[in-house]
Amino acid sequence: MKTFAIGGIEETVVERTDVPPSELKKILGKETVAVIGYGTQGRGQALNLRDNGVKTVVAVRPGKSFELAKSDGWTPGKTLFSDIGEAVRKSTVVEYLLSDAGQKANWATIRDNLQDGAALYFSHGFLIVFRDQTGVVPPANVDVILVAPKGSGTTVRRLFLEGRGINASFAVEQDYTGRARERALALGIAVGAGYLFETTFRNEVLSDLTGERGVLMGAIYGVMRAQYQLLRKMGHTPSEAFNETVEEATQSLYPLIGENGMDWMYANCSTTAQRGALDWYRKFEEAVMPVFDELYEEVRSGRETAHVLDANSRSDYHQQLQKELAEVRNDEIWQIGAIVRDLRPERQGGSRTGSARTSAKKAAPAKPAKAGKSKPKAKPKTKKKAKARR
Ligand SMILES: NC(=O)c1ccc[n+]([C@@H]2O[C@H](COP(=O)([O-])OP(=O)(O)OC[C@H]3O[C@@H](n4cnc5c(N)ncnc54)[C@H](OP(=O)(O)O)[C@@H]3O)[C@@H](O)[C@H]2O)c1
Repeated sequence: MKTFAIGGIEETVVERTDVPPSELKKILGKETVAVIGYGTQGRGQALNLRDNGVKTVVAVRPGKSFELAKSDGWTPGKTLFSDIGEAVRKSTVVEYLLSDAGQKANWATIRDNLQDGAALYFSHGFLIVFRDQTGVVPPANVDVILVAPKGSGTTVRRLFLEGRGINASFAVEQDYTGRARERALALGIAVGAGYLFETTFRNEVLSDLTGERGVLMGAIYGVMRAQYQLLRKMGHTPSEAFNETVEEATQSLYPLIGENGMDWMYANCSTTAQRGALDWYRKFEEAVMPVFDELYEEVRSGRETAHVLDANSRSDYHQQLQKELAEVRNDEIWQIGAIVRDLRPERQGGSRTGSARTSAKKAAPAKPAKAGKSKPKAKPKTKKKAKARR
């Protein structure tokens, strides 16, 4: 465990070493975990649990996810069930990992089949916090816990296979057995967390919904799109506009932020770039703050979750989603993006291993990690050597 204090708040973080394999076995050895849903989180977490030696079964309706689970080695009738109620009845821990709208739709089946003393586990505070919209009120005779990996289930699995771990938050909403906290922590480590920071269901859902609509996904695309359109309007070519907006961000500068922080990325850019960034970031901050205020209020009021439940429960949800994703894909910025990505030497099957690549490597700053793969606690040892292209 590590404790630190920043901004007047003291926090304690639970690390993998706090729940070593022997402890994990002691806490989870007698549990059977049912992972309900085999989307990105269900799959990543179920496979990691299985590889960590936890007795695990998967339950999901017949269809795409069911077939994927079969191909991952889950055996129908033994470790894979299409009857969600059956899997819940057989288990002492229920990881409820359908899509959030799917969780609302299937809640009665879960509730009616939970064992006395079971742990009901979520990876999002959504269903519980907005219970007035979802109708999800757990019975009093179960633990209600949360482990929310801070990333896609694909990353949960990939980092686990690399011997690393994703950062995750955990929370206890209801402690019926007196073991809720130790169960949450052991499950968190078993599903692949590298470390866990404590939260509440409410804080998790408010921060998570704000983050993904904001800097993590929504805002970043909005800002990229605005800059790309400006450059195109001013006569820049698509590849120049894309390189200055996305490619350099994801391939050079953002990984540097991940490695050692914003100040370090700034410190390792040209003085011209530094001056500009230091002068302009506050203007952007002021410009977007009202949008963030509006966003948080939409989330807190429940209007955002009501919208999600409504949109994602519609029968034509998948078709509509495909249509919207196609619009993004066909946007000029991502059309040129596909071409530019294919120009990366490593995507050219070794055909471009000449001097250009070698010299680019020499000039590269301290081996930037790929996006999403940066080490959270990397020491800034390489400061002196690193110098980004800017
Ligand atoms: N993805 C992330 O980055 C992330 C990160 C942290 C936490 N979480 C949370 O983890 C949970 C699972 O997320 P996810 O991204 O894995 O979800 P997802 O990819 O949307 O998973 C959907 C799964 O639920 C099934 N499903 C959807 N609607 C259903 C319904 N009405 N009836 C039965 N099954 C249904 C799907 O089966 P079919 O294939 O048959 O449709 C699929 O197996 C959510 O609470 C989410 O908020 C997600």
